[in-house]
Amino acid sequence: MTHETLIADGPKDDSFAAAVLDGLSRPEKTLPCRFIYDRAGSELFERITALPEYYPTRTEIGILESCAAEIVARTPAGTVLIEFGSGSSRKTEILLRALDRLAAYVPLDVSAAALEDASRRLHRRFPGLRVIPLVGDFRTPPRLPDDLADRPRLGFFPGSTIGNFAPDEAVLLLRSMAEALGRDGRLVIGVDLLKGAEVLIPAYDDAAGVTAAFNLNLLARANRDLGADFDLAAFRHEARFNEERGRIEMHLVSVREQVVRVLGQSFSFAAGESIHTESSHKYTSEGFRTLAARAGWTARRMWSDAAGLFSVHELSAGSVPRSSAVTSPPRLITS
Ligand code: SAH
Ligand code: AVI
Repeated sequence: MTHETLIADGPKDDSFAAAVLDGLSRPEKTLPCRFIYDRAGSELFERITALPEYYPTRTEIGILESCAAEIVARTPAGTVLIEFGSGSSRKTEILLRALDRLAAYVPLDVSAAALEDASRRLHRRFPGLRVIPLVGDFRTPPRLPDDLADRPRLGFFPGSTIGNFAPDEAVLLLRSMAEALGRDGRLVIGVDLLKGAEVLIPAYDDAAGVTAAFNLNLLARANRDLGADFDLAAFRHEARFNEERGRIEMHLVSVREQVVRVLGQSFSFAAGESIHTESSHKYTSEGFRTLAARAGWTARRMWSDAAGLFSVHELSAGSVPRSSAVTSPPRLITS
């Protein structure tokens, strides 16, 4: 069998409970954005990618379509393609159409639902491809089956998901990926370029309200999974451009003074107080190359679109110090 997917919507995530209790206890309330992505959150993200205001997805797809042949030309037969935060794996199809002799494709994501849908579709579209979906946190290098241990590895990290990490965290993440990809590893990574608030604010606060629903899914998920009593109508989505830090932030702002109960604990909100739920850092191409170099990567090539909105970089590994694992390794999805 080439397709190793056996999927179930996994058990309730204990670390979500810990993250909510910790994040809401802080003087400046925060929740980690990775918890937005349960089934509902992954579906909302897919709707975001089709919004007129959200330029990154269509722009990156255009870049990948024009550079896929160059990437593939340097990829030996028998390579394992590992994708970090694979979501729908739609961009991957651009590479998969050009890469016909892969040993395996390993999509890695915290969203079991997204992996399930993507794996089913890839099985239909690429019946000869060995797909090994791993559910887990990409901050920890995945464990691959023994027969793939010595294969060359190509990493793929599109979407500018790297931007959802503060620069120091991004360096740790890129080091951990270098460890996962090995001495001769390469990483193809999508990075959104720095631009003005007039483009960024609508991209993160669209007219149809899809990004608002995506952000509010954190509270909806806390109600569903943890029995919290967030009144979703009492929080509004806000996108803020933090020019000093070169990032756009998503917040959920309490529209009135209120108390919310989660797992037996009470959390007070003042009117106007916010929960910071996501940061999306933007880079200049030079700024990103410097960041990658701090993690031991060498920038080999970079592609961009004509308007200079987005960039795709190809990095190759140098010798990097081994990073220590911060979470348990991603696991094969099983029913
Ligand atoms: N790569 C896709 C999806 C980007 S959305 C694209 O470019 O369109 C970000 C994806 O990363 C989501 O599918 C989310 O579930 C996943 N994700 C976010 N944080 C993660 C983490 N810490 N570990 C693994 N997956 C993560
Ligand atoms: C996945 N990540 C890179 C997206 C971003 O642009 O930061 C998530 C997102 N948040 C709001 N819209 C999309």
